[in-house]
Amino acid sequence: MKIVSLYSRFISCLAVANAAVTWTATPFSPPAFPLAVRSPYLSAWLPQGSGAALNDVWPTFWTGQILGWAGFVKVDGSAFSFLGAPNVPGAAFNKAVQKSSKFTSTQSVFVLSAGPVNITITFLSPVEPTDLVKQSIPFSYMAVSAASTDGAPHSVQVYSDISAEWVSGDNSLIANWSTTTGSIITHQVQLATPVPFSEINDHTQYGSAFYSTPNTASATFQSGADVVVRAQFINSGALPNTRDTNFRAVSNNWPVFALAHDLGAVTASTEPVVFSVGHIRDPVIPYIVANGAIQQRHLYAWSQFSSPADIISSFLGDYNNALAIAQAFDAKVQNDANKISADYTGIVELSIRQAFGTIEFTISKNANGSFNANDILVLMKEISSNGNMNTVDVIFPAWPLFLYTNPAIGKYLLEALFRYQATGQYPNKFSIHDLGARYPNATGHNDGNDEHMPVEESGNMIIMSLSYAEKTGDHSHIQQYSALLDQWTQFLIEDSLIPANQISTDDFAGPLANQTNLAIKGIIGIRAMAEIENMLGNTAKAANYSAIASDYVRQWQTLSASSSGQHLTLSYGNSSSWGLSYNLFADKMLKLKLFPESVYAMQTAWYKTVAQPFGVPLDTRHTYTKSDWEIWTAGIMTDTAGRDLFIGAVKRWASDGLSSQPFGDWYETTDGRPQGFRARPVVGGHLALLVL
Ligand SMILES: *[C@@H]1O[C@H](CO)[C@@H](O)[C@H](O)[C@H]1NC(C)=O
Ligand SMILES: *[C@@H]1O[C@H](CO)[C@@H](O)[C@H](O)[C@H]1NC(C)=O
Ligand SMILES: *[C@@H]1O[C@H](CO)[C@@H](O)[C@H](O)[C@H]1NC(C)=O
Ligand SMILES: *[C@@H]1O[C@H](CO)[C@@H](O)[C@H](O)[C@H]1NC(C)=O
Ligand SMILES: *[C@@H]1O[C@H](CO)[C@@H](O)[C@H](O)[C@H]1NC(C)=O
Ligand SMILES: *[C@@H]1O[C@H](CO)[C@@H](O)[C@H](O)[C@H]1NC(C)=O
Ligand SMILES: *[C@@H]1O[C@H](CO)[C@@H](O)[C@H](O)[C@H]1NC(C)=O
Repeated sequence: MKIVSLYSRFISCLAVANAAVTWTATPFSPPAFPLAVRSPYLSAWLPQGSGAALNDVWPTFWTGQILGWAGFVKVDGSAFSFLGAPNVPGAAFNKAVQKSSKFTSTQSVFVLSAGPVNITITFLSPVEPTDLVKQSIPFSYMAVSAASTDGAPHSVQVYSDISAEWVSGDNSLIANWSTTTGSIITHQVQLATPVPFSEINDHTQYGSAFYSTPNTASATFQSGADVVVRAQFINSGALPNTRDTNFRAVSNNWPVFALAHDLGAVTASTEPVVFSVGHIRDPVIPYIVANGAIQQRHLYAWSQFSSPADIISSFLGDYNNALAIAQAFDAKVQNDANKISADYTGIVELSIRQAFGTIEFTISKNANGSFNANDILVLMKEISSNGNMNTVDVIFPAWPLFLYTNPAIGKYLLEALFRYQATGQYPNKFSIHDLGARYPNATGHNDGNDEHMPVEESGNMIIMSLSYAEKTGDHSHIQQYSALLDQWTQFLIEDSLIPANQISTDDFAGPLANQTNLAIKGIIGIRAMAEIENMLGNTAKAANYSAIASDYVRQWQTLSASSSGQHLTLSYGNSSSWGLSYNLFADKMLKLKLFPESVYAMQTAWYKTVAQPFGVPLDTRHTYTKSDWEIWTAGIMTDTAGRDLFIGAVKRWASDGLSSQPFGDWYETTDGRPQGFRARPVVGGHLALLVL
């Protein structure tokens, strides 16, 4: 991770001033609700802050840039807005009144009252970890249903549109669009001058956005200027099925792409009308292979579908099934996480879509042009800290999510890193930091000038490789890449007991020599390699590495101790320093029992004495902390009170109303303010307690 200049921009736009929440919020009020979050470029959120309703503000991209997405209903001839914050001169409407909000692992659900009718809006971003076709489809659902609240029938029409803000980070660029009708109405929008693999303000600059709904008898559509199209619906409850062909800039009389349904006379709750929103690029990733050649990679879904229309037809047609699968997944997560606590369940539920929304599932093509569905790589965007790809120390904190949902996803993330380094083009003896400085260009670092985190990344790669092999029994990685793993182990043997001056994953805190927590990582890495050598049948090597790790632990206990004997230091010899020793979590996760229980007991007692209102600071250099490391540290506590101290703190931060950003992992422990990171994959680490 690395802080870039964007940091100051994030800080300046935190916490919008909203009224307090006036509705029922289950399980709690988050900083931002995921609305359509499936990929680094399909990432729409409701920035709720301390209490913005679904129709108080516009949905935003994860950066905070507006994504036009509006919704209206008409009830007995009166119009109400339910989504977004549109201004429609010359057309009268009221705001529906939000009654409840709810999020689960897969859905954000809002109930708003519009006169004598309840409108329920369900935003479903499927999480399908074991179905790579479905998981690789960058689409999300919005389903809208209505129910009379007074027992009498009421006439209801439903409308929604998206703007062209979904296809660029620069609203002055020219978009073009088309609308197709058949069994489905689909609006397709793209830039008139796309630039493959490029970004502006983190938005991709090529590919198309799609907004679709089933073409039922009552369905209508329109493209045109926002105020014209919205007024059309507000005034007449239907759209004229017309197309605006005056292609223009995103912000030039804001072209919008609208769909409407007439639900007729509504009494009991209706079947929902379903909309799908998505964004497709092809190819998705240029990936460096041998000799600096570039391989184009495509979404996994193309192994099954031949066109966007095919994908949309399958996706929309699958809504009921997708909802049932989502409900089963939600129930499993709730059941597992509730064994820890209700607070913990909420944290996990808020994290899952966000973490899955940072990765893409890709395949390559065979020489004859057919797709090779067996060649799977998963690519991850670091998001907000910077745009690095498959950052090892970002995959690592997120690892519990993959271990819990489908360890093969972890394998495909690591494969992208292993395969590149096995070509021999990366020149350093320690593990690479990332696959490319800027998503989606997985072009490696042949000059060796990535952001070096030598002990951190070498330890991470070995620990994750063992974790995967243990969990699945699949030894293919440790066999195929044993030379790289051994190379990194030699580096750890040299540099992990007395770690040189270097940065760890918490690079924003700066470099430091002799980091106690980094040494833990390296020593566990050596011990993990002993396990790997055992799996490979190299028992002599295994015994040697195991003995080295044990010897290092003995020495480390002296080096890392503070003079008071009350806590581990942050760095050797500095008795007043301490930090979160979250790297011990790997000892627990891998069940190595490498570090003595007395260390765990000491840290458990210590953290209770230094906790701030929003948790235990990351270390003594600052009072900020990281939510992922808070939860990892919860996982090494020897008593429930210690564990719940960390869980309670993260829950307090996630629900304090001081941020309106997608779940941030870096925040201030004294007052619960955000520190800038948002929407990052590392919240997958909040599932740490589910994999112990
Ligand atoms: C309408 O919504 C309110 C608030 O959520 C709820 O109490 C009520 O039961 C709902 N009525 C119907 C008919 O769905
Ligand atoms: C939009 O522009 C692209 C690129 O110039 C072009 O290929 C495409 O045909 C245009 N689409 C429409 C609907 O005009
Ligand atoms: C990816 O590389 C291409 C080709 O060099 C470049 O045009 C594009 O801007 C790069 N993308 C990003 C996000 O930096
Ligand atoms: C294309 O190549 C792949 C891999 O070599 C092979 O399995 C497939 O049958 C070929 N398809 C055609 C149509 O030749
Ligand atoms: C790191 O710790 C070792 C062992 O205590 C010590 O010899 C060395 O001077 C320390 N390095 C730094 C830069 O403080
Ligand atoms: C143990 O491993 C270290 C580091 O690779 C090596 O230097 C040493 O010779 C090995 N010892 C034995 C007995 O193999
Ligand atoms: C010891 O650690 C504290 C807190 O991290 C720091 O302020 C201080 O400068 C460190 N002392 C030395 C000698 O490095």
